[in-house]
Amino acid sequence: MTTARSIRLAARPKGLATLKDLSLTEDPIPVPGPGQFLVRVIWLSLDPYMRGRMDDAKSYAKPVDIGDIMQGGCVGEVLASHHPHYARGEIVTGAFGWTTHAVSDGEGVRKLDPRLAPVSTALGVLGMPGITAWVGLNDIAAAKPGETIVVSAATGAVGGLVGQLAKAKGMTVMGLAGGADKCAYACEVLGYDHCLDHRAAPDARTLGARIAEVAPQGVDVYFENVGGKSLSAVLPRMNVHGRVALCGMIAWYGGQNLDEALPLPLVWRTVLTRRLGVQGFIIFDHFHRFPDFLKEVGPMVADGRIVVREDVTDGIENAPVAFLRMLEGGNFGKTLVRVGPDP
Ligand SMILES: NC(=O)c1ccc[n+]([C@@H]2O[C@H](COP(=O)([O-])OP(=O)(O)OC[C@H]3O[C@@H](n4cnc5c(N)ncnc54)[C@H](OP(=O)(O)O)[C@@H]3O)[C@@H](O)[C@H]2O)c1
Repeated sequence: MTTARSIRLAARPKGLATLKDLSLTEDPIPVPGPGQFLVRVIWLSLDPYMRGRMDDAKSYAKPVDIGDIMQGGCVGEVLASHHPHYARGEIVTGAFGWTTHAVSDGEGVRKLDPRLAPVSTALGVLGMPGITAWVGLNDIAAAKPGETIVVSAATGAVGGLVGQLAKAKGMTVMGLAGGADKCAYACEVLGYDHCLDHRAAPDARTLGARIAEVAPQGVDVYFENVGGKSLSAVLPRMNVHGRVALCGMIAWYGGQNLDEALPLPLVWRTVLTRRLGVQGFIIFDHFHRFPDFLKEVGPMVADGRIVVREDVTDGIENAPVAFLRMLEGGNFGKTLVRVGPDP
């Protein structure tokens, strides 16, 4: 192969992102300079945050410029190196972007040991989504055995691990997921006590009534991944001194579903009168916890106590379709693109 194929931001989305906002380009494979190495990308992670990077809006991270390669976490193989610490053949993970080949100076790159776990897990359960689940549950929500937790996007990259860790902690665990298949999987495979199909509920009131039926004791912790109808259904069911780990709000990322929001005065009154702890968190602030996270969750993945599900699409050219599908809930497990063969 002599050309690198990449997906670039072609236009800023107006509302929901579309295929026209992303374009495939071919360029010569980059040549590593002194202190750099060349990586062949094997796995590309597709994550909801990437939708935010397409907007030119003030946020916690700089947006992608029009014409630039979309940002993204990857696993790859070093093909050539002028870097003292990276050798040809090593498997590494880093933010190489939506591309087949990239050069790196090693900043933010970590070596992987393929003997410990399939290398793709470095982008999911043992990577950014995994530590997000673990930090959100333990450090942000301070979840305790015996409590009741609701997890939205319950079978996804983050939610799927939150539910399993909460169960292992001795909590009563309820999931909210899109569709009967995901709900069955949550209960039968991931060990959730209950899972409700939010797409089957016509509105937040109906979904909230179902939550009250299966959890009459109320909700102590809400692991919030979506906003929208789910948030409006769960918030009124929170117990006094409950905690909301505000991780994401994917239902609103394209500016859609705003009519599903509760009025702000009602939200505020609920937070006040129930004395709720609501904490938003961005995982970049918590990466110092990575060694502790890996120490606890790594063995659970290795011995099968944690079930891992990946939703794999082949070929960098198919990344845009897989990404848009994930934003609408079409993924089932951690969304990955297999960009090249995994040795
Ligand atoms: N704060 C942080 O640092 C941080 C880090 C990582 C991720 N996150 C956030 O965590 C959330 C989950 O991320 P992930 O990587 O684990 O993705 P994911 O759950 O694997 O995939 C996204 C899921 O969101 C759900 N969804 C999409 N639109 C929805 C809607 N309108 N209503 C309800 N659910 C909807 C779908 O699940 P269903 O089909 O089950 O509805 C979809 O499968 C996202 O909001 C993401 O931005 C935050």
